[in-house]
Amino acid sequence: MSNDLAQQTALVTGATAGIGRATALALAARGAGIIVHGRDKERAADTLRRIEALGATARFEPADLTDPAEVTTLAERAGDVDILVNNAGIFHFARTSNTDPATFDTHIAVNLRAPYLLVQALAPGMVERGHGAIVNISSGAAATPGLGSGIYGATKAALESLTRVWAAEYGPDGVRVNAVAAGPTRTEGTAVYGDAFESAGQAVALKRLADPEEIAAAVAFMASPSASYVNGAILGAMGGQPALG
Ligand SMILES: NC(=O)c1ccc[n+]([C@@H]2O[C@H](COP(=O)([O-])OP(=O)(O)OC[C@H]3O[C@@H](n4cnc5c(N)ncnc54)[C@H](OP(=O)(O)O)[C@@H]3O)[C@@H](O)[C@H]2O)c1
Repeated sequence: MSNDLAQQTALVTGATAGIGRATALALAARGAGIIVHGRDKERAADTLRRIEALGATARFEPADLTDPAEVTTLAERAGDVDILVNNAGIFHFARTSNTDPATFDTHIAVNLRAPYLLVQALAPGMVERGHGAIVNISSGAAATPGLGSGIYGATKAALESLTRVWAAEYGPDGVRVNAVAAGPTRTEGTAVYGDAFESAGQAVALKRLADPEEIAAAVAFMASPSASYVNGAILGAMGGQPALG
């Protein structure tokens, strides 16, 4: 494995599970030092152990992203960050008539406001240092209407819009901002949907769910020097759409 992220520090939000943990490991395998964010201390310790087993350094910074003050503190404690992966996210599926204001607000807070505040706090340091990479984790739900994924998809569509705006704002100073739009992926978060989620894999051309490592590989590419001319892009890691007919 190449060491192309040596000397870089990456903050990965939601690195205690699923796609975030796989991303932390993929970046660590390429030499980055990792700031593991999440809330669950035990799962954080597991992520740290796995990173250290790769010979990389890591530390845990907990924060509840529903609280903007905790997001700000997280950014302060993170310090100089070269790579920011806005991965932490929630998805509670319900139709509009069954979505209460608290569910609406929590999606906005975790999926949209937290990435916004982290970029606001951390991108200026990247600008000052003349380099940086930000990768936002989006979803196929941003572009494809899904019954029950209304507010979730809306937060991801907004995150994709912000990805393009931030690419334009920070690109001139050497900071690249991209998104990876993931397809249905086997994680702790989706395990609760059981067989219903397993069948989501049949709706993509590859006819299977993704493993988190497959999404993480796309994220690591976007964060790495291999993607040095990629800015403002939304990379689909969605298994492809089946053809009609
Ligand atoms: N899995 C999929 O099929 C899929 C598809 C497309 C896009 N995505 C996106 O990929 C990202 C990761 O999904 P996943 O399936 O890997 O999720 P997951 O298994 O449910 O893990 C979610 C992560 O986010 C953290 N998190 C959630 N709410 C938080 C909060 N209020 N404060 C701090 N941390 C919080 C969790 O940390 P703690 O548990 O430690 O609190 C955990 O590390 C999300 O943005 C999701 O929308 C997933």
